[in-house]
Amino acid sequence: MKKIIKILSIVMVLAIAVCSLASCGTDNAVTAEAGKADEATQANQAKSGDLIFGTNAEFPPFEYVSAAGVIDTFDGIDMQIAKKIAEDNGYTPKISNIEFDSLIISLQKGQIDAIIAGMTITEDRKESVDFSIPYYTATQVMIVKDGSEIKKAADMDGKTIAVVQGYTGETVVEKMGYEHVSFKKGTECIMELVNGKCDVVVIDSATAQKYVADNDGLVIVEDESAFENEEYGIAVKKGNTQLLDKINASIETMLANGTISSWAAQYTDNL
Ligand code: ARG
Repeated sequence: MKKIIKILSIVMVLAIAVCSLASCGTDNAVTAEAGKADEATQANQAKSGDLIFGTNAEFPPFEYVSAAGVIDTFDGIDMQIAKKIAEDNGYTPKISNIEFDSLIISLQKGQIDAIIAGMTITEDRKESVDFSIPYYTATQVMIVKDGSEIKKAADMDGKTIAVVQGYTGETVVEKMGYEHVSFKKGTECIMELVNGKCDVVVIDSATAQKYVADNDGLVIVEDESAFENEEYGIAVKKGNTQLLDKINASIETMLANGTISSWAAQYTDNL
């Protein structure tokens, strides 16, 4: 009898070992496991079949929350791109919506696999993450009230400037040496402007167009000589070349066959 129990328990231990090696269990169980894990992002991806993109869905037309989303309740140009990248590579796209300022840390901790957030490729950020090839070119613009005396960037001198914390708009204004107030969201900056509490908001061009379309009495002021072009890229954890190669291949195809420009047109036409 003792022998039978012994054999039985050996069989059971073996069965459990084989099962976990073959990663038995439902997809959900594996996904939950992937969510919990703090490292080994590449391994998680392979196991769960999920590709987790971190974003900050406060940046129309690139990412925003909408009932009829592209990935769950998230819509926008970036969401279309993320979905296509995942599909091209046999993954299920998942979105983790977090503060813009926390995206890079989340990526480094392995809580997300990639960042797609209209994120400008900068030398500073390149020290902490690896970027894909650029997929969109933007620039900073100024949003003012109709009739404002601000006609060029230099006119912001001495004015109350609102920017979003952690955005390149903030860095650019800092580099120009102007005082500014920082807010968590673009919409908060716009409320300040509408309510006359600031004179100008500096933010990315396409997002500015959306805000101006949504709020009467606001206009965009451009200054090409003051604001350089910025390129958006998808970020992965430093050294994750396996994922970066896949992302780059997808982007290359989408740029070559006009997919990205037609999404960009579609989303900016419908602001
Ligand atoms: N392009 C700007 C930057 O990289 C703003 C991006 C904001 N993106 C967002 N999803 N909230 O800083």
